[in-house]
Amino acid sequence: MRMIASVSAKGLARGAAVDRLSFPMWLRLVVTALAIGATACDQPTAQKPSRAPDVRYDPTPHHIVAEMLKLARVAASDVVYDLGCGDGRIVIAAAKLGARGVCVDIDPRRIRESRANAERAGVAERIRFLNQDLFETDIGEATVVTLFLWPSVNEKLRPRLLRELKPGTRVVSYIHSMGDWRPQEAVNVESARGPRKVFLWIIPERTAHQTRGIGKPQHMFAISEQEENHAYSRSP
Ligand SMILES: C[S@@+](CC[C@H](N)C(=O)[O-])C[C@H]1O[C@@H](n2cnc3c(N)ncnc32)[C@H](O)[C@@H]1O
Repeated sequence: MRMIASVSAKGLARGAAVDRLSFPMWLRLVVTALAIGATACDQPTAQKPSRAPDVRYDPTPHHIVAEMLKLARVAASDVVYDLGCGDGRIVIAAAKLGARGVCVDIDPRRIRESRANAERAGVAERIRFLNQDLFETDIGEATVVTLFLWPSVNEKLRPRLLRELKPGTRVVSYIHSMGDWRPQEAVNVESARGPRKVFLWIIPERTAHQTRGIGKPQHMFAISEQEENHAYSRSP
């Protein structure tokens, strides 16, 4: 013990002049392990997703990203979560508007790509990158959630969106609806594969009844596809 204390004191006093060979081997191993650990926290270490992704990678076209952010009225005060963020284009576009972003993807390649793209765009410091399963992500801080997933995945997410997001949080989905949740707005957008939809829902205030898990928010009644097309679509 005394020897360790004396080595540390000398080390601090002499700085770079410390005789490296005087460090006990175990101390050098601890320092090396700590250094490796610090690097591992900065970057995703996994090479492969922890499990098969629920949806394969398919980026939203940039002009539709702009439409999604416009529909959600993203501003500098927002925290935008893209659940299944791919190459990070949605959170990067939001960060360029001054918002903060959280980029969540189960595939570590996508997270590496997102981080590189954000650095290139000069907005990396406004974005957190999470290599994790979106079903395990804490989403309570979000003021906007963006989705380009799959209908069954959206439906599986619904209880968590209602339970964890603050009232007033905007949820925007490209192409896929939320089962029988009635959107506040839906717009038609042109894509290379034909017309597509972007949906907007706003998380409602909870009544005491709903807080106890009974019933669903007033405006989220089922509507037919035909009614949805007629009442909620507008041209881009
Ligand atoms: C269709 S892409 C959308 C990418 C991006 N949001 C966009 O719009 O350009 C879906 C993304 O979700 C990711 N993903 C699929 N299942 C996931 C899960 N359970 N947790 C986190 N990410 C997931 C995939 O790796 C993929 O990058």
